[in-house]
Amino acid sequence: MSSRYHEVYAGWKSDPEAFWAEAAKAIDWFTPPERIFDAGQGVYGRWFTGATCNTCFNVLDRHVDGGRADQTALIYDSPITGAKKSFTYAQLRDEVVALAAVLREQGVAKGDRVIIYMPMVPEAVFAMLACARLGAVHSVVFGGFAAKELATRIDDAQPKLIVSASCGVEPGRIVAYKPLLDGAIAMAKHKVEHCVVLQREQQPCDLVPNRDLDMAEVTAAAKKAGIWVDCEPVAATDPLYVLYTSGTTGQPKGVVRDNGGHMVALEWSMWNEFGVKPGEVFWAASDVGWVVGHSYIVYAPLLHGCTTILFEGKPVGTPDAGTFWRVIAEHGVAAMFTAPTAFRAIKGQDPKGEFVKKYDLSGFRTLFLAGERADPETIKWAEAQLGVPVIDHWWQTETGHPISQNPVGLGLLPVKYGSPAVPMPGFDVQVLDDAGHAVPTGTLGNVVVKLPLPPGCLPTLWNAEDRFRSAYLSEFPGYYKTADAGLIDEDGYLFIMARTDDIINVAGHRLSTGGMEEVVAEHPDVAECAVVGIADPMKGQVPCGFVVLNAGVAREGPEIEKEIVALVRERIGPVAAFKSVVTVKRLPKTRSGKILRGTMQKIADKEGWTMPATIDDPAILDEIEAALKGRGIGV
Ligand code: COA
Ligand code: AMP
Repeated sequence: MSSRYHEVYAGWKSDPEAFWAEAAKAIDWFTPPERIFDAGQGVYGRWFTGATCNTCFNVLDRHVDGGRADQTALIYDSPITGAKKSFTYAQLRDEVVALAAVLREQGVAKGDRVIIYMPMVPEAVFAMLACARLGAVHSVVFGGFAAKELATRIDDAQPKLIVSASCGVEPGRIVAYKPLLDGAIAMAKHKVEHCVVLQREQQPCDLVPNRDLDMAEVTAAAKKAGIWVDCEPVAATDPLYVLYTSGTTGQPKGVVRDNGGHMVALEWSMWNEFGVKPGEVFWAASDVGWVVGHSYIVYAPLLHGCTTILFEGKPVGTPDAGTFWRVIAEHGVAAMFTAPTAFRAIKGQDPKGEFVKKYDLSGFRTLFLAGERADPETIKWAEAQLGVPVIDHWWQTETGHPISQNPVGLGLLPVKYGSPAVPMPGFDVQVLDDAGHAVPTGTLGNVVVKLPLPPGCLPTLWNAEDRFRSAYLSEFPGYYKTADAGLIDEDGYLFIMARTDDIINVAGHRLSTGGMEEVVAEHPDVAECAVVGIADPMKGQVPCGFVVLNAGVAREGPEIEKEIVALVRERIGPVAAFKSVVTVKRLPKTRSGKILRGTMQKIADKEGWTMPATIDDPAILDEIEAALKGRGIGV
């Protein structure tokens, strides 16, 4: 079958508003849009102005009323605890209505923020959808973040209430959430009045009197009382959620997602990009704390009438490297989405794919990889094991759905390994040099998207419009800066090679080395530091800190290095995977005083490097090399 991609992309480009007006017909609006795009609103324009809608209505009620009441909506599969449970669309709505009633009783109303700090349990999804139902704005915080990170988000989002759980479960350890939650609330300036806490049997917790509510008790009472909660009409342009993502400082950026454009973009993507039909099973093995979890565990599959899977486990070790295949076979998964790092972990433990052979994967059609560059070796290995197309696609928390990919529903284009294929309708992707001029085809440069961004992308940052402009829009006027470096080849395929800022990708998790440097610098014995991302065969990248100690520090370096590792774990959380610190005498700098992080990274990666012309003192690079010797750091 030949692909319709070129025709559809050209159709979008010739009349973007007609394209999105057509896509918007797939959504049930309470009031239809007055304008498809209003260039005069917001920072760069707003989509579907004048419309009212409710995202929860579109993901639940219209399916319950439209014949999917008894279809499974959500499967919870938790190899780490041994639990399995499923919910039909009708049951999921009952749960969401009950929790929405509880939140409303606690005063949560349209526009209020609710922080959700939860492990991968169905109640996390109930909470997100309960907020959407009330028109409240959820902000999910990933469970691997520490109290300080949670406190920062509490102060920025100023939530009325927090939904949390007593604990998370990681391989070999229970992560007590409650001390982190209480610590964050104590640290934050904004005072949270109430918490709704899920007591998990693996480790229940004490509840704070007059503040904490036991989720099971209060939702059971709401169900018993038969309290109904209507879907609150909100403007298409009202925020559905705020999701914090790493910026170039320790202060994370609150990416805002609207209701209307988000629904239109995600619904369009499910068939055209992911090739999945309503009623089929779609599985994104990510976490609800990340954008992939928001878009492709929760919102997109449910908007589309699919069955979605909430997987609480790891690709390896829960219990083995065959877990993914077991889930696919057992639940009849048609398409799966995960990060390349998960496949590198599986390949490391089962290089010959012995586990794959044990399961019936005949219903499985497509594997999607994103979150970091998919190295050709991993893609080829996955293709060989699974015998299905493996689709690398590129997107960001900010865009909420793929910027580029090989579109399965429109018809596959030839695969080019190492490329997340072609721009999707809505995205006019270009590559510019640092002065803002288009580079010749095939030349590396700054990857940008011509404004306006399509529906589904961030309209702004939460309470930080100036930061939105300065971080994304001012460097290349008229364009959105992706902060990725890459190129476009002669066939229009994109190659995304690296970030142009200090963001690193650790096991598919987006982290800021600048944020880590801020923490390292807090150690009383540290005079100066630099954190760089170095290559790791499984996680893609891992952070490595280089520190210069204060003059006169008498203690041994290794002792201090251990303290610094512990400090980052305590402040940012285990997800930072910050395990290496190297004490050096000096940091290499340019004559103008800029730390040469890129060169340090190349030395640690044993990549070829050239002496920067502007270096202040070349001898320092030899010192770095010597300090790394025998440390077992890097590849
Ligand atoms: N709550 C608490 N701690 C968490 C956590 C959570 N939700 N998620 C991860 N952590 C902890 C881990 O237990 C680990 O702790 P440790 O230092 O005590 O071992 C640490 O954070 C680092 O986690 P991670 O980088 O995930 O490494 P890992 O060795 O536990 O697992 C993989 C490696 C590849 C198996 C795992 O990262 C993975 O499945 N990645 C898929 C990526 C993904 O889903 N990306 C989302 C975007 S698509
Ligand atoms: P996040 O916001 O966590 O989704 O991270 C977004 C960043 O991850 C992008 O800016 C890229 O640097 C990187 N990324 C995501 N997907 C890909 C991909 N398919 N290929 C290359 N890099 C990717």
